[in-house]
Amino acid sequence: MIVVIDFGSQYNQLIARRIRDFNVYCQIVPPDTPIAALRDLSPEGIILSGGPASIYEKNSPSTPSEILEMGVPVLGICYGMQFMIHAAGGAVQPAEKREYGFAELTVENTDDIFANMPRTTICWMSHGDSITSLPPGFESMASTPNTRFAAVSDAARRLYGLQFHPEVEHTPEGTRILHNFVFTICGCRADWTMNAFAREAIAEIREAVGGKSVILGLSGGVDSSVTAILIHRAIGKQLTCIFVDNGLMRTDEPKRLKKLFSEHLKLNIRYVSAARKFLDALAGVSDPEKKRKVIGRVFMEVFEAEARKIKDAEFLAQGTLYPDIIESQSAFGGPTSIIKSHHNVGGLPKKMKLKLVEPLKYLFKDEVRKLGTALDLPDELVWRQPFPGPGLAIRVIGEITGKRLSILRKVDAIIIEEIREAGYYRKLWQSFAVLLPIRSVGVMGDKRTYDNIVALRAVTSNDAMTADWARLPHDLLGRMSNRIINEVKGVNRVVYDISSKPPSTIEWE
Ligand code: XMP
Repeated sequence: MIVVIDFGSQYNQLIARRIRDFNVYCQIVPPDTPIAALRDLSPEGIILSGGPASIYEKNSPSTPSEILEMGVPVLGICYGMQFMIHAAGGAVQPAEKREYGFAELTVENTDDIFANMPRTTICWMSHGDSITSLPPGFESMASTPNTRFAAVSDAARRLYGLQFHPEVEHTPEGTRILHNFVFTICGCRADWTMNAFAREAIAEIREAVGGKSVILGLSGGVDSSVTAILIHRAIGKQLTCIFVDNGLMRTDEPKRLKKLFSEHLKLNIRYVSAARKFLDALAGVSDPEKKRKVIGRVFMEVFEAEARKIKDAEFLAQGTLYPDIIESQSAFGGPTSIIKSHHNVGGLPKKMKLKLVEPLKYLFKDEVRKLGTALDLPDELVWRQPFPGPGLAIRVIGEITGKRLSILRKVDAIIIEEIREAGYYRKLWQSFAVLLPIRSVGVMGDKRTYDNIVALRAVTSNDAMTADWARLPHDLLGRMSNRIINEVKGVNRVVYDISSKPPSTIEWE
C-alpha cells in the first residue's frame, strides 16, 4: 500500500488514481494523522502531496517529520517536496519568478526514480516557492530554466522530491516516474484487483456483521446496487433492502428495478410505494433546497417506519464512495458540498442506533463499476448514469405537479432511447431533460400553441466535480427535438444547454 498525505492539492485524488491503476492500493490520509497510525497502515511508500500553502506561512499544513525516519521511501510533490526539504534542514523561499504551466525538464540523473527517462522532457509546474539550498545528503536530479532544484533525492534514505506534478496528464513521463517510485523504489506488487478487493470485503463484512441483520436503502443506482450485491454475497438473507418508490423516478423504473433485484439477483427486498406521500409534501414547494429538505424528511420517515419492522437490525449499509470521505476529511473542504445539499440517509443511523457498513468507502466511481462487473452484475446496472436522489423533482423547475412530472418522464424516455441508440449512453456522465417553468409560442398544424420548453442536458465528467457539455452530433440533437415535440403533448420547444461546470452545475436546481 502507498499512503498519500493530503496537503490540500486539487490533484490529490489523481495521485491515488494513478497508483490504483497500477493495481496497487493507495489511501489518502490527512496530514495530522499520528505517526503511530501511519505505522499501523504499514505502507510500502509515502507520498507527500502538493498543496496551496507556503511552507513558511503561519499554520501551513504539516505532518510529523518522523515519517522521514521511518525507513519507508518518501516522495514529496510540490508543497510536499518543500515540506520535506524544510523538515530535513534545507531552505525554501519565494521564487523570483512564479512558475505555472509547462516547463522543460533537464534530467541530470537517470537513475532510480528517473530510470528509463529521456534526458529532456516536459513537466507541469504550479508553484510560487522554490528550494534554495539542499539539506545534507540530498542532491539535485533535474532542473528547469526557472527552477534549479526541480527534482532532488537522498537515495541512501530513499527520499525523493519533485517540484512538478507527475500525476497530471501534462507531464508525459509522470506515470513512468510514479511507476518507478511504486515498484522499483518501494517494491510494491501489482496485486490489488477488484476480485481481490471483493474477496477481502466479503470476509470483512461477514466478520463485522456476525449473525445480525443489515438494512440497505436501495435506489437502483450503481453504488447502492454494488453495495447490496457485495453484502448479499457475504451474508445472504441477513440483508434486507428497502426500495422506496418516491414517485420521482423515470418511466417504469420502479417496476423494472424491482423485477431485476428480486427475481434476477435474488435480493431480499421490501418495496414501499410512497409516491403520494412525497407529492403531497412537495405541493406548492418550488425552492430547490426546500424540495431537497422535504424529500429528505419524507424519505427518512418512510424508510425508518419500514426499517423498524426488521428484527435484529444492527447495521445500516450505505454506498458511500471515497471522494465523499476525502471531501469530508480534507482540511480545505470541497466546494460542492455547500452549493447543493446532496444528502443521503445521514441522520438515520444515530436515531435508530445503527452501525454503518460502507464497503465502498475506499473506492472511486469507476472502480465501483469494475467491482460490479467482477461481481457479475448486469451491465444495465453497472453502467447506469447517476440519477440524483431527489430525482425528477429537481428537473421540474419550480412547482412539481403530477402532470408536469408525466411530461418530463415522456421526454426523458425519448432522450435515453435516442442516446442509447446513438451509442452515447456510456460515453456521457449524464444525459437528461429539464422542464422549464416558462412557456413559449409555437405553431402546429396552422394553430398557435403556447406550451412548455424543455432543456436537454448532456455532460461528460469523471467525478461530477467538474463537467463539460457534450458535443453531441447535430443530427442526434435534431432527432431528439423532433421526437419530443411531435410525441410529447404540451412541449413545443427544445433547447440544448451548453454550459460547463463550473461555473454552472450539472442539474439546474
Ligand atoms: P450538480 O448539479 O451539483 O450535481 O453539479 C453533481 C452530481 O450530483 C447529482 N446531484 C444529486 N445527487 N442528491 C443526489 O443524490 C441531490 O440532491 C443531488 N443534486 C445533484 C447530479 O445528478 C450530478 O450527478
